[in-house]
Amino acid sequence: MQATAQSSAQILADLKQSSRSFKDWLLDSSIYYSFDLSGFLRHQRLAPQFPNISLEHPKHILITGANSGIGYALCDLLLDRGCQVSMLCRSHERGQKAQQKLMDKHGISPKLYIADITNLNAIDSVATQICTEVASNRQTAIDCLVHNAGLLPNSLSITSTGHELTVGAHLIGPTRLTAKLMDGLAHQARIIFMSSGGMYFAPLDPKQMLAYQDENSKAYDGVFAYALSKRAQVELAQLLHKKLSLHNKQIDVQSIHPGWVDTPGVQGSLAKFHERMQGKLRDSYQGALPAEWLCCLPPLQDSSFWFDWAPRSPYLLGKRPKQFQKDALWTMVCTGANLPFDWV
Ligand SMILES: NC(=O)c1ccc[n+]([C@@H]2O[C@H](COP(=O)([O-])OP(=O)(O)OC[C@H]3O[C@@H](n4cnc5c(N)ncnc54)[C@H](OP(=O)(O)O)[C@@H]3O)[C@@H](O)[C@H]2O)c1
Repeated sequence: MQATAQSSAQILADLKQSSRSFKDWLLDSSIYYSFDLSGFLRHQRLAPQFPNISLEHPKHILITGANSGIGYALCDLLLDRGCQVSMLCRSHERGQKAQQKLMDKHGISPKLYIADITNLNAIDSVATQICTEVASNRQTAIDCLVHNAGLLPNSLSITSTGHELTVGAHLIGPTRLTAKLMDGLAHQARIIFMSSGGMYFAPLDPKQMLAYQDENSKAYDGVFAYALSKRAQVELAQLLHKKLSLHNKQIDVQSIHPGWVDTPGVQGSLAKFHERMQGKLRDSYQGALPAEWLCCLPPLQDSSFWFDWAPRSPYLLGKRPKQFQKDALWTMVCTGANLPFDWV
């Protein structure tokens, strides 16, 4: 009993001494005061310095879902830093509008590629185009690929690959894009998955994700499907990182979540939440700032799940997925993306 009291006291003392105070720890544990705007402002005060980046050899960052919300803000922030930015958008019209806005502001036009991230043929065309441009020195290799495109569906819909939409958009498409872009990536590149804090409430469950495609649409729960796919993105980042390092590729793979951010996506898909949270959400630039920092960090040895400039545990109460679930995830994404299991 005494030992427990002592160790608890020690933990409290250590927490008080660390830059993250006990009050921070309590507020972070509440989730609400961590993911909301107050959490952002609190974490920003503890944020490390922005890494030194070369202006002579600017980093080339490719961002999917770049015409709106967090993706657009990330393009804007990275252009401000002097990075070279390429945008991947599904709509020509919306992509061009965003590209023009960035061009008007920065005087440099980011390159625009068009592909629906659930369409494997469209992904292949864009990836071939980029790899050809890199091979012929018309484009510098990609230093960072940000899988940001995403959505939370209100009803069941199935992609052209036969998958439930969040599985197609958050997992199958990004896997295909990553695989087909390998020749266009820089030697020490980074891949980032824009996940969601919602993933804390979902297990890694490829079986359930695959079951959705055969389900009665009345039984479909878009919020849970979204959370499952976002959990799977975090696990996929770790798997991919491990496989790449086993093959001596110096490409690191990270995942991040942006907190609760006021974007067109949230306004459209979570209208009630958006209304209730008026004034308490981060804006899209606040949502993008930690991702901007992560894009520019030097190479990392490990794969982490990031939130507001710090790696965080992706597991509540330490509950980790089993190896067979990770294997099932790899099987699902490779089969869905029509790739051999050993494509890495
Ligand atoms: N906002 C938040 O609070 C929050 C929280 C956690 C995680 N996230 C994640 O952050 C990312 C960005 O979301 P956001 O909030 O910024 O939403 P957003 O404003 O709706 O932006 C989403 C972007 O993804 C694109 N996209 C969607 N489906 C696509 C597809 N099939 N192919 C290609 N592009 C597609 C959208 O294109 P269109 O404009 O053409 O639809 C848009 O550019 C998502 O992955 C989301 O899950 C957001």
